[in-house]
Amino acid sequence: MAKVLDEASSRAVAEAVRYYRELGIYDLYRRDVPADAAWLQAIAREELAVPVNEVVAAPTEPVDAPTDPAILAAVLADKPTALKVIREDIGDCQRCRLGATRTNLVFGVGDPQARIMFVGEGPGADEDAQGEPFVGRAGQLLNKMINAMGLRREQVYIANVVKCRPPQNRTPERDECDTCGGFLMRQLSVVRPQVVVALGATAAKYLLGTSDSMANLRGRVYEFHPVLPHAAPERDAEFTTSLVVTYHPAYLLRDPRQKKEAWADLQLVMKHLGMPLPARGAGASPEA
Ligand code: URA
Repeated sequence: MAKVLDEASSRAVAEAVRYYRELGIYDLYRRDVPADAAWLQAIAREELAVPVNEVVAAPTEPVDAPTDPAILAAVLADKPTALKVIREDIGDCQRCRLGATRTNLVFGVGDPQARIMFVGEGPGADEDAQGEPFVGRAGQLLNKMINAMGLRREQVYIANVVKCRPPQNRTPERDECDTCGGFLMRQLSVVRPQVVVALGATAAKYLLGTSDSMANLRGRVYEFHPVLPHAAPERDAEFTTSLVVTYHPAYLLRDPRQKKEAWADLQLVMKHLGMPLPARGAGASPEA
């Protein structure tokens, strides 16, 4: 039997539809919503600036308008639900050509409260098969890198620029990164790590919006401001974090001589966070 929504809920649905249309998404499907999420209820209570019958109109707010502070605070108070909602927003994604060839979409894994978030390029064969980032050989090395920092994999958050495996593990195309990247920015804006570690050139160039070489990008701490899709509930004009670039673990497997450089990058992250550094010669570097 059809369910009639109350006025506040139907306004919230209208707002959501408007948001999806802005993203160019017209096909919507029904999903179970965690009805007890305080921030979803807050959105439902919001007085919208535009009447419901104008929901298909072009956005009227300035593009960088932040979310209402009360909604943002509620989103950040329930990060697991906020990440779940992003995953559900991605859905059974066919927004780019990678959707046609993937087995599993690889969203992200780890602690929603993590201080450090690692961002890779895109899933490989193992990740595509298992639906989790960095579970293959490169993932084993990433785990060692994380362990060398005195952390466990479960204590960080790990995601990729694109969530579906590019065929033959090719580098994702620019348009694929752009299509998927908004979801990564939303993940970043929910987790709010103190440092983002860009693993390899694709992640570094995408996040920093540059085509500079790895040699030039490594070795410093950048200020990073995620650019979010319009009206994402995580939107916050004030949110900036730090970003460090290092080599991709797959590259380190091909050229292990660079591990020393990667370890220096991770030590930069640790220093930035005030984490204890291993004593010289203590041998904590991530040997494979
Ligand atoms: N390489 C990546 O960039 N990401 C993964 O998840 C696995 C390998």
